[in-house]
Order: sequence, then structure tokens, then C-alpha cells
Amino acid sequence: NESPAKKFQRQHIDPKLPLSSTYCNKKMEQQDMTQGCKPLNTFVHEPLKKIQAVCFQEKVTCKDGKTNCYRSTSKMHTTDCSLLDTSKYPDCKYQTVQKERYIILACEGNPFVPVHFDASV
Ligand code: ATR
Repeated sequence: NESPAKKFQRQHIDPKLPLSSTYCNKKMEQQDMTQGCKPLNTFVHEPLKKIQAVCFQEKVTCKDGKTNCYRSTSKMHTTDCSLLDTSKYPDCKYQTVQKERYIILACEGNPFVPVHFDASV
């Protein structure tokens, strides 16, 4: 069974920068997020260690009001994948938009690691 930490890695980490506008169509399928066509998902294109380090950076309140969120102290390479309203289930079609942003992650456990992507700012 997949741990919350491994699920976070599957859904949100891809150290390679995307090279094409069809990145999200392929990557969302590859990473098993197209049963139900997940409406919005962000990939972070940085090394695992650098993303895990965010759990020890700036503490902030999460969108749901919990207090286990952390904002990165540097901008990171990210890609937002948003489901197109013309997408016809089960053929999930996404818009691919690359951004350089600060990321906000929820962290849990021992070791204290990312389990949820809260936002980018
Ligand atoms: P994501 O939100 O990254 O797209 P997800 O599949 O929705 O991914 O999983 C989020 C996981 O982070 C859940 O296991 C969630 O736990 P709950 O289901 O108990 O909420 C966990 N999590 C921990 N802290 C969270 C927080 N502050 N906000 C949202 N999810 C949090």
C-alpha cells in the first residue's frame, strides 16, 4: 500500500523540466491521475531533497486552516496541469503551464516529509 509520502512523490515530483505542451496529457496518465481526470495538479521540477527541505522552511497556515504547511524560501520550477473543459472523460486533456513560484506543502510524520501540495504563490 502507498504511503502518503510516496503518493506525494508520485503526484507532485518530476525532477525533469517539461519539454512540450503535451506534457500534462502524458504525465497525468503516467502518474495514475486519470481515473476520474484529476481536475488540477502541480508538478515540481526540482530534486527530491530540495522539495523535502521545504518542510523545514517558512511555516504558514494551510488552505484548510491546519498549521502543518511550509512555504519554500526560493522559487521553484513548477508546471500546473488543469483539466480542459473540452476534455471528454475518460480521455483526460490538460493545459500545461510552466511557472516559477514559491511552493506551499503540508508535511507530516517522522521523518517529517511532504504529504500534500497546498498552493504555489
Ligand atoms: P494533494 O492534495 O497533494 O493533491 P491528495 O491525494 O489530496 O494530494 O492527498 C493529500 C494528503 O495529505 C492526504 O493524505 C491528507 O490527509 P487527510 O486526507 O487526512 O486530510 C494529507 N494532509 C495532511 N495535512 C494536510 C493539509 N494541511 N491539507 C490537506 N491535506 C493534508
